[in-house]
Parts: sequence; C-alpha cells; structure tokens
Amino acid sequence: MPVSDTELTLMFEHVLRNSKVDETQTVAVLRSHYSNDRIARAAMEAAIRLKAKVYGVELPSFNHPKAMGNDMTAYCGDTALTGNTAAQRALECADLIVDTMLLLHSPEQEQILKTGTRILLAVEPPEMLARMLPTQEDKIRVQAAEKVLKAASSMHVTSKAGTDFRARLGQYPTVTEYGFADEPGRWDHWPSGFLFSWPNEGTAEGTLVIDTGDILLPFKSYAREPITLEVREGFVRKISGGFDAEYLRDYMNYFNDPEVFGISHIGWGLQPRAQWTAMGLHDRNDGMCMDARAFAGNFLFSTGPNTEVGGSRKTPCHMDIPLRACDVMLDGQAVVRGGKVVAPAASIP
Ligand SMILES: [Fe+2]
Repeated sequence: MPVSDTELTLMFEHVLRNSKVDETQTVAVLRSHYSNDRIARAAMEAAIRLKAKVYGVELPSFNHPKAMGNDMTAYCGDTALTGNTAAQRALECADLIVDTMLLLHSPEQEQILKTGTRILLAVEPPEMLARMLPTQEDKIRVQAAEKVLKAASSMHVTSKAGTDFRARLGQYPTVTEYGFADEPGRWDHWPSGFLFSWPNEGTAEGTLVIDTGDILLPFKSYAREPITLEVREGFVRKISGGFDAEYLRDYMNYFNDPEVFGISHIGWGLQPRAQWTAMGLHDRNDGMCMDARAFAGNFLFSTGPNTEVGGSRKTPCHMDIPLRACDVMLDGQAVVRGGKVVAPAASIP
C-alpha cells in the first residue's frame, strides 16, 4: 500500500536518529537519475529536521555494456563513482551518506568507509521500508548472533533436500545488517536483519541443493525444481538439474570469468517482518528484494565478489541464494534448525 511523503520523512527521521545523526553531524544524500525521488527527498528533509548539515551529491547513471537487467546487484564492481575522485572526496567529508544509488561491492565504497564515514543504503520501495522499519530490538537480535558467528571456526549446513555443505571460518570478518549505520565506518542497509561471513579461501566443500521454492537473486525467481551445486575447494564446480540449472549455468558462464563461481558470503536471516512470499507480490524492477535475503531462518549463500571485505575476487556476477528448511551448525551447535532460528536465545525472533 502507498506510504505518504510525511510518513516516509518520519521513518527516515527514526532511522537517522538511530544512526546517530544530530546537530553535530553532516549528512550527504547520494543520488542518481534512477534514484527514487521520494526517498532522496525524505532523507534530506529528515536530516534537516534533526538539524544536521545536509548536502546532495548527484552522479550520472552508469551502465556497463555487459550488464543485463535493471537490478543494481546484477553487475558488481564499477559504479558512477569509479575514477571520480572529486565526488569521492565530497562524500568522504560527510559523517553519514544516505546512498539512494547503490555503491555496494565497489572498491570506492570500501575506501570511503575507511575514512570513518558511515553509509546507509536505502533503495527499496517505501512500502518495504515501512514494513521493515529497523528497531533497536532488531539490532540486539543480530548482535547476539554475531557473537556466535564471530567465535565459530566452522559452518555445516544440511537439509532434507540434499544440502550438505561445510566451510571453515575466521579469515574474513563477520558482517551484520540491522538497518542503522551507527558506528564510525559502518555500512548498513534499511531494510535488513541478517548476518554473514565468508568461508576461508579454498575451504567451502560439499553440496548445495536449491530446492523448489527457494529464491535466486538477482533473477528474482522462485526455483521451479531442485538445482544441485557441487562445491570443491571454495568454488562451484558443477551445476545440475533441469531448466533452472541450465539457466543458472548459462547466466554465470556469460561473464566468462572463473571467479564468478567462488563461494562468497554465507549466513542466515533474522528478520521476522521479512517474508519469503513478498517477492511474488512485487515487480522485478521494484527494488533488490531484501525480503528474500533477510527472512528469519533462511540460510543465505552467495557467489562471486569478496572485495567489500578486502578479498581479491573482483568479479561482476553476484548471486544471492536464500535456502529454506536448512539446519545451520556452527562448530556443531545449531543456530537454525529446519529453517527456524533456534540459538542463541537472544537472536530468536
Ligand atoms: Fe550478496
């Protein structure tokens, strides 16, 4: 249902206040031609209401000739900021950037965060922002799970559909998304509510079965039949099944880059207001479908780049694939059982 401009501004005020924006702060609203005008305007008005210093940075839209579709996560790496040092400096001067454009997976974003500037991404439709307005309770739940993931040295994921996947952990940091960019150098995304890390290089092994009904992003499709991925030494080596497997194989091969098949971030969803079904109610061009990444108890794995945590895999193709009905074990202790969050207690929605 439609969200009024007033409500959108008030929601932004809530999120910016929880992102520690006040009269001492400078806020930059980053936008491009394709940004949602209402979101960019509401971000600016909310920052003004909080008495922050506010300015806008507008960049021309950027299209890579190889990119397919309008989903901003479907081609990673280069953005309108690539090589634009003046704009990068302007953004680094802010305490907080509201990104209505999507810099994710770009090395420039990593450089900006290293200066201590915080970034809050907001690119989903207002209805989705309203349904998943972040709360301090979301943060507490995600941080409770973070403690366990940070301490873990292994992850083992199984399902009745046939998933049996293992990875060693510890080489890469644990990343949380709870919707507030409230610490220096923190990147976050409204809406969200999940966490993840990356397998140690070369250690992801086993079988991942995408079962009927599981979601493939950025395709924004529900799998119509099982797809089996065989993983050895950190890379997907074989994709088998029917039409859905053939589609996935052809799409990934299109990028003509072996790095595309590396296993990227792995983690699980903790957001009870995110819904497995929501994607079916939206058009493909509505946004990037954060419901699918965040719904409680999903096991989210991905393929492709790891540059946002300082890894060396800079590859344009990034698949995010949430699986339902999995058991997720950290060092032998279940955090998700049959697609339900079971531990730690403070993380259970
Ligand atoms: Fe991802």
